Amino acid sequence: MSFQSPDDAYPYQLPKWAEGKLTNVPPHGRLHLANLPTPIHKVRTATSGNKILSRLNELNISIYFKRDDATGGVELGGNKVRKLEFLLADALAKECDAVVTIGGEQSNHCRATAAASRMVGLSPHLILRTQRADAVHDQTESLGFTGNVLFDRMVGSTIYTCTAGEYGRLGSNKLVQEVCNYLIKSKTHNQPYPIGVGGSNGVGSFGYINGVDELMNQLQSFQEASPDFGLDHIVFATGSGGTAAGISLGISLAYGKLGNAHPASRGKDMPNIHACGVCDTPDYFYNTMADIAKEMGIALEESKVLEFVRDSVTVHQGKGKGYGFSTNEELDFITQFSLSTGIALDPVYSGKALYHFLTNVLEEDPEAYRNSNILFWHTGGALGIYEKGNDLSQTLESMSPVTRIDIYGKKAGESNVVDLS
Ligand SMILES: Cc1ncc(COP(=O)(O)O)c(C=O)c1O
Repeated sequence: MSFQSPDDAYPYQLPKWAEGKLTNVPPHGRLHLANLPTPIHKVRTATSGNKILSRLNELNISIYFKRDDATGGVELGGNKVRKLEFLLADALAKECDAVVTIGGEQSNHCRATAAASRMVGLSPHLILRTQRADAVHDQTESLGFTGNVLFDRMVGSTIYTCTAGEYGRLGSNKLVQEVCNYLIKSKTHNQPYPIGVGGSNGVGSFGYINGVDELMNQLQSFQEASPDFGLDHIVFATGSGGTAAGISLGISLAYGKLGNAHPASRGKDMPNIHACGVCDTPDYFYNTMADIAKEMGIALEESKVLEFVRDSVTVHQGKGKGYGFSTNEELDFITQFSLSTGIALDPVYSGKALYHFLTNVLEEDPEAYRNSNILFWHTGGALGIYEKGNDLSQTLESMSPVTRIDIYGKKAGESNVVDLS
């Protein structure tokens, strides 16, 4: 046995069920960055006091979590590292010396990209979209050291800021390309590798083809003991579309929609795939997924790709107050969920998506979900909770009381003291 180095690329073998169906397989293979396979946990729903989980229990719904929040340590964890295994293998094969990517101020994607880049010897350059761009520039505010930004900075990322308006005007791809050009022109780097928002393209999304193969193999093992077991629904958050493209194309192919199937799908109906959009519109996501499917070389006539995508997945509008904004109900759901299950969801993606699915989508027709097995693909993002600390403080103070221990008997009579003297 030998220990692998993260920058040792190895060939990627497309699963049998996808052979000939996705023809643009990344030629440079993948890296070892993620802890795979991620486990699947059954979540406790028989829990009193949690209205939403009790409701699942009442409907006899079992909910399973595919723990992609556990793909890595705090720097790499979440869904992005599956994409980065392919993207950074491509960057190394092309002899790049830096990576440029883009996202929101608390972007999980930027944080994971920065850490993974350092792991394989590339310099991370991050463009962060923030309304505070001018204030940070004028030094009336600081970008700070919280959540994802803390880790961006701990790996020495070079950070560029822009406002949402500037981001909208130029577009994220153009901004990334312009920073790459600037790095070359200024002789800072010879060959920066551009990664578009979320790493959602035809290379990165193979990470979730691989993820679906992993899930199907786990189902196959589970079915050896419980042959009747099948998944009825798969639910996850979508933000830039790459995870959704990989999961929905992967599941459709693994259940034999275009031919070969994975053995675990035999005799089973394909689960319904639900992508909960945390920004943009469902149409935007259908079109983005179709574009990614084409980039991946899906074996369909171009005019049929969008229809294939629409048949594979339902995109729900789950953005609530808008990208990055939370309602009190969403935040309550996240705290009640961690209180009942011990699992941390995030306010921007996983928590918002699951909240929206369980309270709106499922409640539109609860009987359609009775006696079903739902898999929630937990895509990580817990560092995003740091930003909501102030909004959560009142709830957390009452959920998690703090009491002074008094071992000398010096605080007798004071309130909020446990007397152990
Ligand atoms: C925690 C988390 N979940 C889900 C997503 C959405 O994934 P995608 O961008 O592939 O749609 C993201 C994207 O940033 C994320 O950070």
